[in-house]
Amino acid sequence: MQAQEIIEKYIEFFEGNGHKRIPNSSLVPLNDPTTLFTSAGMQPLVPYLLGEKHPEGTKLVNVQNCFRAQDIDEIGDNRHTTFFRMLGNWSLGDYFKSEQIPWFFEFLTDRLNIPAEKLYVTVFEGNDSVPKDTESEQIWKRLFEERGLNAKERIFYYGTDKNWWSRAGAPDKMPSGEPGGPSTEVFYEFTNIKHDKKFGEQCHVNCDCGRFLEIGNSVFMAYKKQDDGSIKPLASPNVDFGGGLERLIMATEDQNDAFSTSLLKPLVETIENTTAKNYDSNKKEMRVVADHLTASTFIISNGIKPSNKEQGYVLRRLLRRAFDNFYLLNGDSITSIVDKIVDQYSQTDPDLKSKYEEIKNTILTEEEAYKRVLTEAKKFINKRYKKTGDELMGVTEISAEDAFTLYTTHGLSPTQIKSLGFTFNDQEFARKMEEHSSKSRTASAGKFKGGLADHEEQTIKGHTATHLLQQALRDVLGDSVHQTGSNITTERLRFDFKYDKKLTDDELKRVEEIVNEKIKENLPVHFEMMPVAEAKATGAIGLFDDKYQENVKVYFIGPLSGPREDAYSKEFCGGPHVDFTGKIKKFRIIKEESLGKENRRIYAIAE
Ligand code: SER
Repeated sequence: MQAQEIIEKYIEFFEGNGHKRIPNSSLVPLNDPTTLFTSAGMQPLVPYLLGEKHPEGTKLVNVQNCFRAQDIDEIGDNRHTTFFRMLGNWSLGDYFKSEQIPWFFEFLTDRLNIPAEKLYVTVFEGNDSVPKDTESEQIWKRLFEERGLNAKERIFYYGTDKNWWSRAGAPDKMPSGEPGGPSTEVFYEFTNIKHDKKFGEQCHVNCDCGRFLEIGNSVFMAYKKQDDGSIKPLASPNVDFGGGLERLIMATEDQNDAFSTSLLKPLVETIENTTAKNYDSNKKEMRVVADHLTASTFIISNGIKPSNKEQGYVLRRLLRRAFDNFYLLNGDSITSIVDKIVDQYSQTDPDLKSKYEEIKNTILTEEEAYKRVLTEAKKFINKRYKKTGDELMGVTEISAEDAFTLYTTHGLSPTQIKSLGFTFNDQEFARKMEEHSSKSRTASAGKFKGGLADHEEQTIKGHTATHLLQQALRDVLGDSVHQTGSNITTERLRFDFKYDKKLTDDELKRVEEIVNEKIKENLPVHFEMMPVAEAKATGAIGLFDDKYQENVKVYFIGPLSGPREDAYSKEFCGGPHVDFTGKIKKFRIIKEESLGKENRRIYAIAE
């Protein structure tokens, strides 16, 4: 079944069961400093899972573009991709297990026509704070038995390592304030795959041999980590369901290789054409090229450029891994693959077509830059070994120290260094890496600590200050200014915005003064939920351009009565904020810098 058809069936099924469709959020979160990329559909919903009221109600459904950098090293097997689309449905304190489990089963078996005998499930075995999930087991038992299947052979209990979900993982890893809960997962069996003992003596549903594929995870997000480290029930329990579209396609097509499904096979065929090589003999390389270029295409379409920082760094790493593998295959035209990706995904993401030139040029420019890095790396090594020239002059073995310099100053990974034809002492290199990463861990400790997600007082002040800052920038520089990102910690706030010139000292001073005036006026900060058209009419700014969102939450900074248009700041935003601007004592800009073409960044402190 094609991707688009599965998406339509899923949305239709859950809308039919009273859900409201909410938009796909940006792959690069705008206001969540705790993470670089959106990696699950629930991520933008955290405040609502913790009890805030969602403007669209208590039953939501969507399709979310996700990127998981942590899976980067897994790419090359039959099922992992860094970029994927997650089908998600949520109950915000509304329905629970007895609706969610039968709904998902019905969706799989009746709408996607997946035979029930291909399905296996897992449930939570319980721990000291949360009981064994016998309720889910009983529901699954009934569902399997209604289809004439022996439930005993299909339901398995696992502990917190497999059947507990939170953004941080198992309960002991969850930071204070984090929501999480037990889960029930559904697995599809590829009956043509025989267990490989390399993965363990006995096969089981969570085995990595490829026989079973997880196709959906219903999290009963009913708990919250407390300051004292305990896990306590939330006032109202939620459901957070996520299922990978790429994997559901594998199940509907009974295709155990994600790269051979109707979605990804066309990409692989394009790679085969441009490399004149065949997929069966070059699976790993072709899978990396297909996955990494797809992820890069989406990341670039979200406005990110390759760089040495944050999202830009991840993008650079993805692209360079894609180039390395493409060169190993002696590929001819990388553009032909990008064209195919845009073609394949533009049905669900039409934006890709309008951003095609930007995507292609970014990839080609980075490829040129990478080629220069490789030339420089060769020159560096030749010089160290007293040779000259861009080509390697017979140097093959280099010291771990030199390899490490190539890593830190030229940005080359150990694999890239090896693919240039050098060998070095791996253990010595690993030791240097470990030293280096423990230093950088210390240097960046607390970097994302205390962001909006933790709702600390200082962070909330910073959040309100960014609204004042955005409006003050518009007052001074004009209405073309608009936010492209933010990152707020307890120590400082960071605000990125579109503007094409460096700000003068006078302009910065004026912006700072305006924000401080608004703080002194002690204006109330309040929100209203309203239809998009009404929000726009008030002059509120924000991301309104998705056709599925009907109601939005708008924060006003200004009088509680009188026309809303008269409020000083009006922004579409999820919150939270201080209730009066006077809660912020003083606002100071500490730095203004360029982020590249037409993008500026301000660092400031809201005391
Ligand atoms: N949040 C869960 C996951 O990512 C279910 O949506 O698997």
